[in-house]
Amino acid sequence: MMQPKAINSKQKLFDRWAPNYDWVFTSVFYQAIHHRLLECVDLPEKPNVLDIGCGTGRLLTRLATEFPNLQGTGLDFSAEMIRQARRRKPDSVRPRLIYVRGNAESLPFADGQFDAVFNTISFLHYQNPEQVFSEVSRVLVPGGRFYLADSAFRWPPTPQFLNISPGGMRFYSPQVREQLGVQAGLDCAGHYALLGPVLLSIFTKKTV
Ligand SMILES: C[S@@+](CC[C@H](N)C(=O)[O-])C[C@H]1O[C@@H](n2cnc3c(N)ncnc32)[C@H](O)[C@@H]1O
Repeated sequence: MMQPKAINSKQKLFDRWAPNYDWVFTSVFYQAIHHRLLECVDLPEKPNVLDIGCGTGRLLTRLATEFPNLQGTGLDFSAEMIRQARRRKPDSVRPRLIYVRGNAESLPFADGQFDAVFNTISFLHYQNPEQVFSEVSRVLVPGGRFYLADSAFRWPPTPQFLNISPGGMRFYSPQVREQLGVQAGLDCAGHYALLGPVLLSIFTKKTV
């Protein structure tokens, strides 16, 4: 398990970043990823979706705008990211989106609650990837989808880069992602290159 000290340091990093998150260069990169991800999204008529590591909520706002019957929950362990997400919710989608603070490794939701789970550029920070996959599988309905978008390899390729985030960062190849899915009862439906090193992997929860 991740040491509490490392968790606190990671949370503090994101708390500090949150107020400026939407206007620094990296945000442009993340929003381009969201844009491309949306082209691959397939949801039922009235979807209930979860975004883990939601940051300031930009992806959920996009999803709620694109899918007018969508209900969305954003979860993040940074209190400041959650505060920004609540503050920046546009009026047009406000009643359909909620934001809660929590850890990806222990989701505060009932079993089989969501039609889809999203996770963009957050998985690389997790210390227990198997646990997160298991939690995602637990909260998905049978046949529900998990959209995982993250770097598939280290980029930029400098060791110093990995030290930016306390506790380090981890990168998962398509093969390792598939293996994580199998262990959690999720079939991999495919991998799609989104931008640079960022690979989208789509999983479906087994129906039996
Ligand atoms: C680089 S930001 C990406 C935010 C958003 N998904 C996006 O695409 O813009 C990574 C986010 O993951 C969150 N995060 C990292 N580890 C987490 C964990 N164990 N549980 C919940 N959130 C976590 C951070 O607080 C941060 O908001």
